[in-house]
Amino acid sequence: MYTSSVAPTSQAFGEGGGGGKGRNVKWEELGFGFVPTDFMYVMKCSLGHNFSHGSLSPFSTVSLNPSASILNYAQGVFEGLKAQRSEEGRILLFRPEENARRMKIGAERLCMPCPSVEQFVNAVKKTVVANRRFIPPLGKGSLYIRPLLIGSGAALGVQPSPEFTFLIYTSPVNSYRKGPLDLKVENKLFRAIPGYGGTGGIKSITNYAPIYRPIIEARTQGFSDVLFLDAATANHIEETSTCNVFVVKGNIISTPVADGSILPGITRKSIIEFATDLGYQVMERDIEVEEALQADEVFCTGTAMGVKSVASVTYNNRRVQYKTGADSVCQKLYDTLVGIQTGRIENRNWTVQVD
Ligand SMILES: Cc1ncc(COP(=O)(O)O)c(C=O)c1O
Repeated sequence: MYTSSVAPTSQAFGEGGGGGKGRNVKWEELGFGFVPTDFMYVMKCSLGHNFSHGSLSPFSTVSLNPSASILNYAQGVFEGLKAQRSEEGRILLFRPEENARRMKIGAERLCMPCPSVEQFVNAVKKTVVANRRFIPPLGKGSLYIRPLLIGSGAALGVQPSPEFTFLIYTSPVNSYRKGPLDLKVENKLFRAIPGYGGTGGIKSITNYAPIYRPIIEARTQGFSDVLFLDAATANHIEETSTCNVFVVKGNIISTPVADGSILPGITRKSIIEFATDLGYQVMERDIEVEEALQADEVFCTGTAMGVKSVASVTYNNRRVQYKTGADSVCQKLYDTLVGIQTGRIENRNWTVQVD
């Protein structure tokens, strides 16, 4: 049976769960479970047209034709980003235009029109402002923002949907998982259709349910997540279920190339950029499993986890442990990332103020 570190939805509510309206969140009990908020944003568009205007509406379930492309053929991409409080109580987004650009690349691959970068960022801002009472105080979590782009029209044949819906909902969250990770290398099942032209490099909805099986198996065995290998050789590390991966040896930080098989994470991109400023040598290159097993440190990056130390990697029953803790490279990168995201460290105008 699948178990997760996520707090059940109802635990975070004052009065036993339900819709966002009239509810107060107990910040101390937040995990990474879904907690509904007051409003969602919806914008629709027909095939062959561009998105023009959307609006906020009270959070609710959505109604779809059973023949909708998203239900039958998974024509859909999604994004994930966060709104956080700064020390002065301002509301900040972290590089939201990068999410907009990534959604556009995914939409093109799946033959969908996509909101422009400006439309995307404005819609995110509006949704965050409307749900601002759900943004936890600094240090107690963030408001997770989930933009979805789906083929919402009816299309029985295998063809692009006649209608598309861009929707944003939010949920207050705290840490995805506490403590360092224990990863299991998976060498039989692969994550996504690899390579250029595949779907590994986009945030396609199709990339996630197929990895439930190895994740469930790994969690049942006591691991936190799976470290996937490349499908061509099953010899190079790629990424985990929701994170990019880095290895540290001396002053060199290496991460697999985002060549269409792995998701080009925005946290990954940011680390590559600011780790160089901190004096590390950063390399994007193929990394064999054996090399990862010889590393000083391994860490994962992603919106949900930030920068997270890996305590151990297990490959074919061989378990290797890594340095974690206060004087690790990972901790230094984590502190810098959080500092930038919460406005304490000024960096390249990466944060966007919402209010
Ligand atoms: C498969 C996968 N890899 C990596 C990431 C990390 O990307 P980001 O840093 O943009 O959150 C995510 C999360 O979006 C993911 O789902």
